Amino acid sequence: PTLEKDILPLYFGWFLAKRDEDNLRKTAHEFLEQLGNLKAFKKRLQAFGREDKHKLDLLKYFAKTPNILHCTTKFCDYGKMPGSEEYAQLEAVRKGYSKAFTLHISALFITPRTAGAQVELTQEQLHVWPSDAEREAMPKDVLPRGSRAHITLGCAADVQDVQTGIDLLEFVKLQQAGREGENMGELLGSKISYYDNGMWMLALPRKKEIKTIFSGYYG
Ligand code: A2P
Repeated sequence: PTLEKDILPLYFGWFLAKRDEDNLRKTAHEFLEQLGNLKAFKKRLQAFGREDKHKLDLLKYFAKTPNILHCTTKFCDYGKMPGSEEYAQLEAVRKGYSKAFTLHISALFITPRTAGAQVELTQEQLHVWPSDAEREAMPKDVLPRGSRAHITLGCAADVQDVQTGIDLLEFVKLQQAGREGENMGELLGSKISYYDNGMWMLALPRKKEIKTIFSGYYG
């Protein structure tokens, strides 16, 4: 008999390796700096609570950045969230725990609330993706499994990190409905698109590979 019991973390997720974390922070910095200076962006500031043509420093606007860059799979709140125990027991989760995974970033995006990186999961990675992640965030919509996968890069004042995935699903919803966004030219060698309501997305023609470790954060 044993008294040991698994402790559930605050959340499970893929944690970026130091080098790739530094690199992504740098890319995010450049993205925010250049987007903030883009003429087309300066003309569309109202969703950000600013008057058009006034300066908006996006690095200051998204000053709240995560301590550790990661892609959350399951938020458990130490077991208080429904389904946490079942998730932790999944064979793919137990097997994948503390293993290395290469994630693929397909786009960077901002909304008036959050800045994030869209993550495109492989079939193998989908095995550790909770089956209800998309439904939990958008109960009324049927969105492809894994479409909520993201890395939070920054939040506006008074906005919680959890909002980033919800914002990403808003983009996916529009894209599923056939909306591609308005092409606003190039930024960092990629196409920048505008989707109304202060939603901007930079689609990366070559997906950015990042090394991660699948683990839990216990805070
Ligand atoms: P995200 O994955 O979008 O970055 P917190 O610091 O608020 O406790 O959150 C810890 C991590 O768990 C963050 O990465 C956060 O958002 C994510 N998170 C927080 N709440 C939820 C939730 N209800 N559902 C999914 N992920 C969450």
